[in-house]
Amino acid sequence: MSDSATLTVDGKNYDLPIVTGSENERALDIGKLRSQSGLITLDPGYGNTGSCQSDITFIDGDKGILRYRGIPLEAFADHPNFVEVAWLLIFGHLPNRTEYEFFSRELTENANIDEDMKHHFAGFPRSAPPMAILSAMISTLSCFHPQLFDLETDDQLEKAAARLISKIRTLAAYTYRRSRGLPYIYPDPKLPYVSNFLHMMFSEVYSPYVPEPEVRAALNLVLILHADHEQNCSTSTVRMVGSSRANLFASCAAGVSALWGPLHGGANVKVIEMLESIHKGKMSAQEYINAAKDKSSDVRLMGFGHRIYKNFDPRATMLRDVSEKLFAKLGTSDPLLEIAQNLADIALKDEYFLERKLYPNVDFYSGIILRAIGIPANMFTVLFAIGRLPGWIAHWHEQNSDPNMRIARPRQVYTGNGLSHYVPMEDRM
Ligand code: ACO
Repeated sequence: MSDSATLTVDGKNYDLPIVTGSENERALDIGKLRSQSGLITLDPGYGNTGSCQSDITFIDGDKGILRYRGIPLEAFADHPNFVEVAWLLIFGHLPNRTEYEFFSRELTENANIDEDMKHHFAGFPRSAPPMAILSAMISTLSCFHPQLFDLETDDQLEKAAARLISKIRTLAAYTYRRSRGLPYIYPDPKLPYVSNFLHMMFSEVYSPYVPEPEVRAALNLVLILHADHEQNCSTSTVRMVGSSRANLFASCAAGVSALWGPLHGGANVKVIEMLESIHKGKMSAQEYINAAKDKSSDVRLMGFGHRIYKNFDPRATMLRDVSEKLFAKLGTSDPLLEIAQNLADIALKDEYFLERKLYPNVDFYSGIILRAIGIPANMFTVLFAIGRLPGWIAHWHEQNSDPNMRIARPRQVYTGNGLSHYVPMEDRM
C-alpha cells in the first residue's frame, strides 16, 4: 500500500503523506496543503476529517465495533464497574488493586461540594433545564479548585479527575432534589459510586434508598456504554475549548452544553417523548415511521441513525438486552419498551431506513432503562454527561500532553459580499 497520495491542481502535483492508524485506518495528511498549494479542504460537519490522532477509543462503524483502550465494550457486560472504566480511559490501562482502591477513596473523599456552592442552586428557577444547571455548576467548580487549573503531573490529573467524576453526580442529584423541592441528601462515604448517586437521588432523610443489585449493575453499564465515543460532538467541543489552554472544568462545562442538543445527548429525552406520544395514541408506530420518512416534515425517528455506525450500534444491542433483563428481574413492564421494539421491527424492514443504514443508536433504549430505575426524563441527558465525563477528561488530557498541540482553528470558504463601503445612517435606504 502506498504511503502517499498525489493531488493535481492546475497541472501541479502535491504529495500528501498517508498516515496509518494501529487498526489500519488511513488518512491523508493535509498539514502542509495550504502552505504549499494555497488550498484548504472543505468538509462541513467534519464527516471526512480526522481532527487528531488518539489512543483512547477505537470504533469501526461498519462492523459495529467499539473498544476502550483496545478492550471490546462487550467485555464490560459481565463486569459493570464504571469507576474501573473511568480509570482505564483516563490512564490507559485497567487499574490494579492499589490504583483502584486509591481512586475509589479519592472519589469518596471528594463527593461533597463546598457548602457555598449549594447557594447557587437556589438561584435557578425550579423548572430550570438540568443541563443548564450542570454546565453552570461545573464551571462554578473551577472557582473552588483553582489549584487544579494547570495539570502537569499524573498526580494532579488524578486529583482533578476524581473531583470532577465524584462531584458531577452530587451536582446531578442536587439538581434533581432542588427541582422537586426536596432536601439535599449528603453523599454516604460507605457507598460505592453508583449506589451513592442513587442514594443522593432517592433516599429520604430517615429512609435510605437501597437499590437492587440488578439496578446498580444496569446503571453501571449505562454509564460505561456512554463513557467515550472518540471525536463525537461534545468530546470535540471539550478538545476545541481545551486547545485554547482553558482548564479542565471550563472545557467539560462546554462539553455539557454540546451534549444537551437533541441531535446528540438530548436525543434520549426525545426518544421517550416520541414513545409517549405514540403510547397516548397521538400516532401509531407506523404513522410515526411514515412521518419520519416524509421529507416535508421535520420528524425524525429519534434514537435511530448515527454518523459512524452504518450497521448496528453495539451499545444499543447491549442496552436492549439489559432492558429486557432488568424488566424480567424487577417483575415490571413498560409499554414504551414494547412500542420501541415495535418501531424498531417496522423500521428495520423498511427500505428507507435500510437504504440509509439507519439503525437504533445508544439513545433508543437508554431512556427506557433510566425510566425503570426511576430517573425522570429531564435528567436523562445529565446521566449521559456523568457517563461521558471520563471520556472528556481522557481526551482533554491526551490533547494537552501532546507537545505538538496547537489551538484548534479551522478555516472557511468565504461566500459573503465583496468589498463594500460604509454608508452613513442618513444615506441608507
Ligand atoms: N429518521 C429519519 N431519517 C433520518 C434519520 C432519522 N432518525 N437519521 C437520518 N435520516 C436520514 C436523513 O434525512 C438523510 O436522508 P437523505 O439522504 O434522504 O437526505 C439521511 O438519513 C442521512 O442523514 P444525515 O442527517 O445526513 O446523517 P448524519 O450523519 O448527519 O446524522 C444523526 C446523524 C444526527 C444521528 C441523525 O441520524 C439523526 O438525527 N438521528 C436522530 C437523532 C438521534 O437519535 N441522535 C442521537 C445520535 S447518537 C448520540 O449522539 C449519542
